[in-house]
Amino acid sequence: MSESATEQVTNPRIATISSLAAHVGDTVTLHGWLYNMRESGKLLFPIFRDGTGTIQGIVPKAAVSEEVFDRVKSLTQESSVIVTGRVRADARAPSGFELDVADVEIVHLVPESAPYPITPKEHGVDFLMEHRHLWVRTPRQSSILRIRATIMRAAQEYFDTNGFIRTDPPILTPAACEGTSTLFELDYFGDPAFLTQSGQLYMEATALALGKVYSFGPTFRAEKSKTRRHLTEFWMIEPEVAFMDLDGDMDLAEAFLIYIVTRVLELHRADLKVIGRDIAKLEAVIAPSTEPGAPSTEPGAPSFASSAKGGLSSESGSPASALARGGGEARPPLFPRLSYDQAHQMLDAAFKAGKLEAPHIYGDDLGSPDETYLSNQFDRPVMIHRYPAASKAFYMQPDPADPTKALCVDVLAPEGYGEIIGGSQRVDSYDLLKSRILEHNLPLAAFEWYLDLRRYGSVPHSGFGMGIERVVAWLCGLDHVRETIPFARTLNRIYP
Ligand code: 4AD
Ligand code: MG
Repeated sequence: MSESATEQVTNPRIATISSLAAHVGDTVTLHGWLYNMRESGKLLFPIFRDGTGTIQGIVPKAAVSEEVFDRVKSLTQESSVIVTGRVRADARAPSGFELDVADVEIVHLVPESAPYPITPKEHGVDFLMEHRHLWVRTPRQSSILRIRATIMRAAQEYFDTNGFIRTDPPILTPAACEGTSTLFELDYFGDPAFLTQSGQLYMEATALALGKVYSFGPTFRAEKSKTRRHLTEFWMIEPEVAFMDLDGDMDLAEAFLIYIVTRVLELHRADLKVIGRDIAKLEAVIAPSTEPGAPSTEPGAPSFASSAKGGLSSESGSPASALARGGGEARPPLFPRLSYDQAHQMLDAAFKAGKLEAPHIYGDDLGSPDETYLSNQFDRPVMIHRYPAASKAFYMQPDPADPTKALCVDVLAPEGYGEIIGGSQRVDSYDLLKSRILEHNLPLAAFEWYLDLRRYGSVPHSGFGMGIERVVAWLCGLDHVRETIPFARTLNRIYP
C-alpha cells in the first residue's frame, strides 16, 4: 500500500504536514500538537507538529472570531489539537508552507500550572535522557528516528531483493558467541542461559540449509564501559552465505552499505537538514570512482585495491576461486581495503609524524584513536582485513597465506565513526573448530550442534554483522549512540 493510501485508511480526510505540497490552496485538517508559539501584537504564530513535520500557522486577530483567537492563544506547549486551515506556499517558511488557521479544536490542554518539561531552551543531556519519552517529540529527534526506520527498512530490502531468506535466531541462548565477558546471564528454569550477543552461529546453520540468509533483531552485551559507541541492547543485521569467502564478504558489505546510504539520501534530505548533517559527506560515500577500479585515497596515499586480492580466492585453481561474490554485479571495489599490516604501517608513520598520541602496538586490536585516524584518511568507509587471529573470535578461519592472521574484516565508517561492521570467513574444518573451542575455554557440549555443521557437508562460508545504531550515528552525524535508538540502554541507564 502506498503511503497516501495508508494515510487514507488511518486518517480519512486528515492531511499530514509532510504531504502539504499536494494541498496548496486547500483547506485541510491536521491532527497534532502545539510545538511552540510566537506572539506579535494582534498576530499569533503557532507552530504545529504532527509526527511527519512541523508547520507554522498564522492567526491574525482580525481574520478569526474572538473565540478562536482566544483558544489558540490559550494553547500551551504540547497541547494536542485538531487544526483546520488553508495551506499557503511561502518560500520564507522553513518547510515551504504556512497555514492560515481557521479553527482549532483542543483535544488536551497541558495545564499552565504543570507545563511540558522540555522547553525550546537548551537542556542538559542527562535531563533529556531522563525525559526521553518526551524528548522523542522534538523535530530533531523525530528526524533521527525516521532515518533510523529507513536504514532498517533499506537493510532488509537489500537482502530481501538479493535472494536472502530471513531466518530469526533465538534471543535466549545456552552459550557465548562474542566472548564471555559481556554476557547477560539469566536463570532459565534453574539452568544458566544468556541473552544473545549475535545470531551468527545460528545463521551459519540456516545458511547451510538455505544458502543465503540474514537475521535482524536485538542483541545484548553487558558492556561495562561508558563510550559513545556502546549500548547494552542494540540492533544487528547479520547476513551469512554458504560458499562465500572473505573477498565475497567484503563485496557484500560494500554493496549493502552503498544501498543504505543511497536510500537515506533519496528519502531524507529534509530530515538531514533538520539535524544539520553535511550531506556532501554522504554523497562522497556513494559517488562513482573517478578512476575506474581505484578506491578513493588521499593524493599520494598508496592504493590498496590490490591488497584485497590475497587469501583464498587469489589462489588460482583452488576450489574457493569459484566461491560466491556477495554483492551481486561484479564491479571494482569502491571502498578502500587495507590489511591489518598496512593499517599498522599507516598508524606507525602517523605516530612518528606526531599525528597520533600513542603508538599502535603490532598485534593489538585497533584502539579508538587508531580507528579515527584511519577512517579520517578516506572519504568512504574503509575495510581493515586480516587481523592477528589471537585478538579475534574463535570461529574465524585462519588465512592460509599466514595462519597467524584471521580472514576477518572490520568496516570503519568515515569521519571517525569507527567500526560499523564486523565480519569474517568461518572455520570450516571440524578438527580446527573443536580445538579453537577448547583453547577459548568454551563448553564443548554447548557447541556440539555447531560442530555438526562441520560434520555434515561443511563448506567455506562467511558473513558479517552491522550495528544499526552505529550506522544511524554516522549517517546522522551524531556524536553519541544514545540518540540513535528510541530508548537507549547503557551501563547506567534503564529508565524510562
Ligand atoms: O564485531 P561484532 O562483535 O561481530 C559480531 O557480533 C559477529 N558475530 C557478527 C557476524 O559476523 N555475524 O559486532 C558487529 C557489529 C559491530 O561492528 C558494531 O557495529 C555493532 O555490531 N556492535 C555494537 N553496537 C552498539 N553497541 C555495542 N555494544 C556493540 N557491539 C557491537
Ligand atoms: Mg567487532
